[in-house]
Amino acid sequence: MTTGHAEFLSAELPSGRVAHFHWVWLRDSCPCEECRNIHAKQKYFDSATIPADITASAVRQTADRVEIIWPDGHRSDYPMRWLAEREAQRLARPPAPDGRIPWTSPAAVADHRFAYRDIMADDSMLVAALDRLFRHGILVIDGQTDADSDALCARLAGFVDRSYFGEYFDLETKPDDTTDSISFSTRQLPMHTDIPYYTVPPDYQFLYGLDINAAATAATDGRTRFADGLAAAHRLREADPEAFRVLSTIPVTYRAEYRAAEKIYENETTIIRTDHNGEVVGLVNNPTKMYFDTVPFESTIPLYRAYATFKGLLGDEVCYFHSWHPGDMIVFDNRRIFHGRGEFGASGIVRTLRGGYFSEIELAARARFVAERIS
Ligand SMILES: [Fe+2]
Ligand SMILES: [Zn+2]
Repeated sequence: MTTGHAEFLSAELPSGRVAHFHWVWLRDSCPCEECRNIHAKQKYFDSATIPADITASAVRQTADRVEIIWPDGHRSDYPMRWLAEREAQRLARPPAPDGRIPWTSPAAVADHRFAYRDIMADDSMLVAALDRLFRHGILVIDGQTDADSDALCARLAGFVDRSYFGEYFDLETKPDDTTDSISFSTRQLPMHTDIPYYTVPPDYQFLYGLDINAAATAATDGRTRFADGLAAAHRLREADPEAFRVLSTIPVTYRAEYRAAEKIYENETTIIRTDHNGEVVGLVNNPTKMYFDTVPFESTIPLYRAYATFKGLLGDEVCYFHSWHPGDMIVFDNRRIFHGRGEFGASGIVRTLRGGYFSEIELAARARFVAERIS
């Protein structure tokens, strides 16, 4: 039984539940080929051209469909199952979700790993892996001898987020006077955010074990360490609210000079980025490219103090250490997870990682599509 109403349609769904749908939304959602490209699922018209107070001229309901005739004579036909799905979607929408789960222990990260072949071959594994990445900020994929970083990037995001360093960069060792970044050496790197000198640093980063020998896997210095800056920022807010306030209100400068490219990048930002409610939305910290030059005189000592206090919360006990095997890939949220490494110049160690970036929107779009395909 379907009845009309001045502002909306009331329809009894197959479940017996009576749901309401506004006329304007129904007209906007007409599934016919005159109204949209049914293959691309894109509309031929602008919703603004439908009067918000449009009503149906006639409504008919068969066993499993609703048919509507509009004042201009256009006819729309909606499967009842489709209306039930829209209603479920509307009800399922959570209020302002923040799905991020701060790390409670590094062991929790190591415990949950995915295998290369599972991600490549199994849609449900891919969906679970991306969900884990969005929530915990890190995804560990154990490599296999036939692993292919291009195929894995394509599977996860379709395409990478290009940066100054190109589609990706291979962290090969270069002499000090021929490189524009100390990443291309065997030196230790303190915990950091990549490309902090962009106004919007890359959302996600990947590191891939391109060329790794057994000595590199065995050496503790060859490991990459990761820590959750979000969890650390929450701990700081608890333990030292004044330090948290300083780091979230006084900006520092991140700067990189790339002479060969004839560019100087510069970005001023607070280390802890908060929203209007004071919630932590992201972190930007890269010690090798950070300058306090623009900090007001009276804020200088408080900022150095607060920064040291914050870094003190990122000790070994909160870090996940990854020993590299060939073909391993780690994807992590560059706005949240800091990464670093020890010095690994001992003889016999071959450890070349490939790195690059993903936009969150591309990862989320892939996750959404694959989740729909398996639902
Ligand atoms: Fe890095
Ligand atoms: Zn239509």
